[in-house]
Amino acid sequence: MLVLGIESSCDETAAAVVRDGREILSSVIASQIELHKPFGGVVPELASREHLEKIEPVVDEALERANVSLKEIEAIAVTQGPGLIGSLLVGVCYGKALAFGLDIPCIGVNHIEGHVYSVAFENPPVEYPALALIVSGGHTNLFFIPEAGKYKVVSRTRDDAAGEAFDKVAKMLGLEYPGGPVVEKLAKEGNSQNIKFPIAKISDGRPDFSFSGLKTAVARYVRENEIQPLSKGETPNQAIKDLCAGFQATVVKSLVGTMEKLAVELKPKTLIVAGGVACNNALREAAQKAADKLNLPVYFPSKHLSTDNAAMIAAAGNFHLERGERADLRMTADVMMRLQNFENEDAALKKKKVRYRL
Ligand code: KG4
Ligand code: ZN
Repeated sequence: MLVLGIESSCDETAAAVVRDGREILSSVIASQIELHKPFGGVVPELASREHLEKIEPVVDEALERANVSLKEIEAIAVTQGPGLIGSLLVGVCYGKALAFGLDIPCIGVNHIEGHVYSVAFENPPVEYPALALIVSGGHTNLFFIPEAGKYKVVSRTRDDAAGEAFDKVAKMLGLEYPGGPVVEKLAKEGNSQNIKFPIAKISDGRPDFSFSGLKTAVARYVRENEIQPLSKGETPNQAIKDLCAGFQATVVKSLVGTMEKLAVELKPKTLIVAGGVACNNALREAAQKAADKLNLPVYFPSKHLSTDNAAMIAAAGNFHLERGERADLRMTADVMMRLQNFENEDAALKKKKVRYRL
């Protein structure tokens, strides 16, 4: 089945043509990084306007690069949520209208499930049960996946997402947006032993993540040690490099330590690490080391497929389309779309007044 994937949940307009959920014929990503850079983060209004401008040329280019015509596309998979409402609506409306015009099936895809499926291309097929660490700018979750299509959140962030912490620390230090790649680059030249930060402990004993305390600890360190944020074009000094290394080491240790602990408990057959932060080599190395220790395979997407893209949306959509699922014209953007679909603990967490974020 030839599926056209469309992604517009945040600040990337993307389209891809994927065959049978495993073969990428084309994957086009129009990044808005330059547009949002001056603001140090994504400006929702600007993002949706840019998606409107880019969606058509991006889809056209994906078809051209795949060397297929619209008539050959058999189904459309489009990100339905979670994400920014204005951004999501552009992709959802475009995808639905195109599918309606072509009289082919359309499916709304959960963006996070897309990240899970980003490992479908360059790795052996996933063996279930699987344990997936999805770390991006908006999400930090560990999902237990007993079989394809079934998801339970076994760890979540109580506050900031890991990628968001990278972005905020970078902003504090006067580094570029997005923070992840810059912080990683500087961390390579720093010594993580020079500045050590503690890993947040959750008082109710749940295996959850918390990164806002770490962000505050970095801010305090910056203030107490009179570290000046860089001005444009200035070369970072050793103190900033060590700070990046210490911060990154703490995030990696927290993510991989929790994944390892839950893997021992849940006994998955495959580990998955995906999402924008999975671009980070220190995270990849630590996850690989943990997997070797557990004698489990760990699958990563390539870097192109780690950050937001439409190939992963087409792959996840392919799975649902093969099961006969279809969206009708009433399908609309779902800003808070959840992936968890069994043993949902939301009610119990709410009762205990546990604050968390999906
Ligand atoms: O998956 P993604 O493209 O978008 C969301 O769905 O959020 O992830 C973007 C996030 C940003 O916060 C960015 O700083 C982070 O991924 N990121 C990284 C690296 N490359 C991107 N974080 C750490 N190290 C990297 N090399
Ligand atoms: Zn994403």
